[in-house]
Amino acid sequence: MTGKIFVTRKIPAVGLDMLAGRAGLEVDVYQKDRVIPRRELLKRIRGCAGVLTLLTEKVDQEFLEAAGPQLKVVANMAVGYDNIDVHACKNAGVAVANTPGVLTDAVAEHAFALMMAIARRIVESDKFLRAGKYEAWGPLLLLGTQLKGKTLGVVGLGRIGAGVAERAAKGMGMKVLYNDVKRNEDFERSVGAEFAAVEDILRRSDFVSIHVPLLPATRHLVDAAKLAMMKPTAYLVNTSRGPIVDEKALVAALKSKRIAGAALDVFEFEPKLAPGLAKLDNVVITPHTASATFEARSAMAELAAQAILDALDGKTPKNLVTL
Ligand code: GLV
Repeated sequence: MTGKIFVTRKIPAVGLDMLAGRAGLEVDVYQKDRVIPRRELLKRIRGCAGVLTLLTEKVDQEFLEAAGPQLKVVANMAVGYDNIDVHACKNAGVAVANTPGVLTDAVAEHAFALMMAIARRIVESDKFLRAGKYEAWGPLLLLGTQLKGKTLGVVGLGRIGAGVAERAAKGMGMKVLYNDVKRNEDFERSVGAEFAAVEDILRRSDFVSIHVPLLPATRHLVDAAKLAMMKPTAYLVNTSRGPIVDEKALVAALKSKRIAGAALDVFEFEPKLAPGLAKLDNVVITPHTASATFEARSAMAELAAQAILDALDGKTPKNLVTL
């Protein structure tokens, strides 16, 4: 096997070692710990047979032309691949792979961490203490919401949505409603979940957790009208992609206490936050770190590297999205 590989940022060593350990491959890695500037990206991918990308890189026609005709594979170290024009890649004969499965538990756990943090006002409590405001135990101090017995609405029952639903039902004693493009009766039986329309979920749930991919049909799936359907006591959790929620409308709904709170790992115009969002107490925010465990990120790096090796070996990468 011969060819040039470009890795757009430092990733866990296990992935880099797999690529560097393969005779004949010339591996170039962007060394600065920040998103590679577009111009530099387009320059560095020239002549590459494989590129290991992150969700911060746009893989489009311009990218494909800059890389040139020897490009065979793009492996995105993420489960989501809305940063990639899969159609253009397919037309150019470039295989695209992602890294599903290995981050399911990390992201489901993070969604839960967010849900519990917003329900029990963990960040607000931490700030309160650090600000020296704690004088004495108080019967009404920082009251939150119990999860047990509450209803969780899961929008999108892929691996991650199912992981969150299962934890909610089996671990926390919550009732689970879910929506997906298709019903899953086995899942309903095993978890005791109920299939419902998105609108129904929004009206009936105490917590709504979003787990759909970003597609034209899911952009602003949760807009002002949908937020208005939620209970004033309900919380929204988003660990999928920012543009699925109209963030400006969400800030308005949070400010007016139209809903009780939100916990977000992703943002519509990432890394920017909608004006006013960071000032609100009824919000918990994390910087797109839902899959950021040592375990998940190492496995993602490994899977992405393996996809490049497989494609260059003439094998079909396991997680091909250009089918
Ligand atoms: C992270 O957001 C991913 O898609 O893996």
